[in-house]
Amino acid sequence: MATSCPFLLLPVELRLLIYSFAVLDNPSITIGSAELVGSHPDMIHRLYGGKRSPYPGIPEHHEPVVEAGYNASLLSTSNPAIIPLSQATPLPDESHEDPHTAHMALLLVNKQVNDELTSHFKMSKNRQTSLFLAYPHGLHVCRTLTPHLLRQARSVHIAGSYASNTFCPARAACIGNPGPKIKYNGGKAPDSTTQLSDLIASLFGPDATHAVQKLELRTYYSGEDSYSTVWGDDNSPTVVALRNIYCGEVGIEVWRGRYGTGVYLTARPTIDGERKRVVSTTWRRLEEGRRGEPKCGSWVVDPKWPQWEQEFIMSDGPKGDLIIHQPHGSAP
Ligand SMILES: *[C@@H]1O[C@H](CO)[C@@H](O)[C@H](O)[C@H]1NC(C)=O
Repeated sequence: MATSCPFLLLPVELRLLIYSFAVLDNPSITIGSAELVGSHPDMIHRLYGGKRSPYPGIPEHHEPVVEAGYNASLLSTSNPAIIPLSQATPLPDESHEDPHTAHMALLLVNKQVNDELTSHFKMSKNRQTSLFLAYPHGLHVCRTLTPHLLRQARSVHIAGSYASNTFCPARAACIGNPGPKIKYNGGKAPDSTTQLSDLIASLFGPDATHAVQKLELRTYYSGEDSYSTVWGDDNSPTVVALRNIYCGEVGIEVWRGRYGTGVYLTARPTIDGERKRVVSTTWRRLEEGRRGEPKCGSWVVDPKWPQWEQEFIMSDGPKGDLIIHQPHGSAP
């Protein structure tokens, strides 16, 4: 059976070499989803033509995007990426720009190839990639479509906004109004809390499997009472991160604004590899949403990206900020 596939007639070393070319090796990779915009027939063709079906777990009329490179609009909630459709738009599986295509195609060849790719193939020790994930949809796409990219990541950067279940739209002054409830492909929203927990535990948990030099998590909570959501909601990404970071140096900047709160959390391994956790917290003022100020929520995309520092560098801010160091003798 297997020998009917010419690819499997190649010696395993050669196959592994070929795999290695298929694995992305780009300084930055951005993962998110983008809304398809176009006429109804173009949309139907794009989503259902050629035996395709919509990718489950992301909003309706969205497509997963894995881009070899940094793309701020995939991370942005205030200026999100769209994919305009026309008859000329290349279909996803015909597009050569789709970086996961070669790798996914190999995974699909058959089970033997899949096993070789996922278990025998040694990832380069030289981790070079910075992985940028949109929260929550990019996180879902990464977990379900390209989990292998985590293994080659040197750093992970997550950006997005969080709306609590108990969130009241009337109180959201700015981009806060989520509009009609999002409909998901497959009828079910992914469990973003578990996906985020698992990801962070795999980086900084007691049994971490992928050591990275840096994790950055930028979460925007919209609404006037957003500050209480940051700490009071069990599914708040900031709380989820703190629950799953067992050891490391954690820096938190809380940006309080009139229309929302931004929380910038960073984590990196302790310098001496000691199994302890240190948390520093600082407060800043978030200026947004008024004339001449950035749009509400645009804060989630760090203008410095794709650059990042291994050190925790506090953003510039007015003097006199309260900084709290909170050493933990033993992690929770
Ligand atoms: C970012 O991604 C979107 C969606 O795929 C794409 O339309 C846009 O051209 C990309 N931007 C850049 C600068 O590559």
